[in-house]
Amino acid sequence: MKTYSKIAGIGKYLPSHVMTNQDLTQYMETTDEWIQERTGIKERRYAEKHKETTTTMGAEASKVAIQRAGISKEDIDFIIFATLSPDYYFPGCGVLLQRELGITNTECGALDIRNQCSGFIYAISVADQFVKTGMYKNVLVVGAEMHSMGLDYSTKGRTVTVIFGDGAGAVILQPTTNEAEAILTTHLHSDGTHAEELAMISPGSHGGKHLGTETFGFPENDSPGEIFVTQKMMDDGMLYPNMNGQLVFKTAVTKFPEVIKEALKKVNMEASDIDMLIPHQANLRISAFVQKQMGLPDEKVYNNIQKYGNTTAASIPIALCEAFEDGKLKKGDLVCLAAFGSGFTWGSALLHWAI
Ligand code: UT7
Repeated sequence: MKTYSKIAGIGKYLPSHVMTNQDLTQYMETTDEWIQERTGIKERRYAEKHKETTTTMGAEASKVAIQRAGISKEDIDFIIFATLSPDYYFPGCGVLLQRELGITNTECGALDIRNQCSGFIYAISVADQFVKTGMYKNVLVVGAEMHSMGLDYSTKGRTVTVIFGDGAGAVILQPTTNEAEAILTTHLHSDGTHAEELAMISPGSHGGKHLGTETFGFPENDSPGEIFVTQKMMDDGMLYPNMNGQLVFKTAVTKFPEVIKEALKKVNMEASDIDMLIPHQANLRISAFVQKQMGLPDEKVYNNIQKYGNTTAASIPIALCEAFEDGKLKKGDLVCLAAFGSGFTWGSALLHWAI
């Protein structure tokens, strides 16, 4: 009998502090009207500085997912943590989450995924392979982000800063032999030729490579111990995320439908078979475009970017959890997840809802 994986539990965590578009106008030249018209976002959540972190938010979401799966934290045999805004440069959030949850079982491995907006799709795809092969029985998959600590709040950074928000989502993946509650297929893609078009390139080892003649203030001599962070990088805002928004937008609207169709084709299904599409919440206009391309009615596409902004790796599990909590998903429904973002990386997953 074939073994699949299924989502056995799901949780989310959103910090309580609401940052409205109007609030952002205190720091930069922007308007509520511009943000809503270009992105659909009305407000986003910001974590409580010095108290909450990417890991602690991930832990809160995980506790709910663990409880809903009816397991104990010690049953978890593998952790996969997707984020682009980790607590530390290293070690990654996976081990920090293990500690935060008080998991003392050292048989439990922890893996960090760095695939930005498609991080959660990559993470469940990896978890799916481990469960299908029988290697693990309870994989905790987390997507969490704390963007608010690392954005440029001056007018220079407004295009990027207004779109991002904080939050976390988590699922537990378990084995099943019942296809009617299983993850059916996952599809992962990448194209590194556009790596710098949506990136935070410093601190890093690049030393100006990939970036033409620009050295970003790295010393020109051969001394060892090159500095990682230079004053010039700080002055140039290179310690913040930078994005070629229009290129990302144009590429996203082609890749989303492409990768959704690829997944449907793999399992001999049609777009009309989808009960709920949960696209990565990047921009409401991108979601609307994808919905139109796929010919799906409003009730079959879930969006919550209006309330939470773009929470990158956390956006899909947060939306999936909220759709479930709102009673919009029932057992057996065909759910499609899809994402596109920095890398560029993109992916999709098709699954039958199991809870
Ligand atoms: O999740 C990861 C993947 N990310 C995405 O998928 C994001 C994809 N890209 C986008 O969603 C859009 O490109 C943005 C929402 C980021 C930007 O929207 P846009 O319609 O592409 O705006 P733009 O960057 O072309 O800027 C248009 C104008 C510019 O002014 P001028 O040059 O026409 O006078 C900008 O300076 O809007 C201005 N602008 C703003 N104005 C007020 C840019 N940001 C803002 C702002 N408030 N926050």
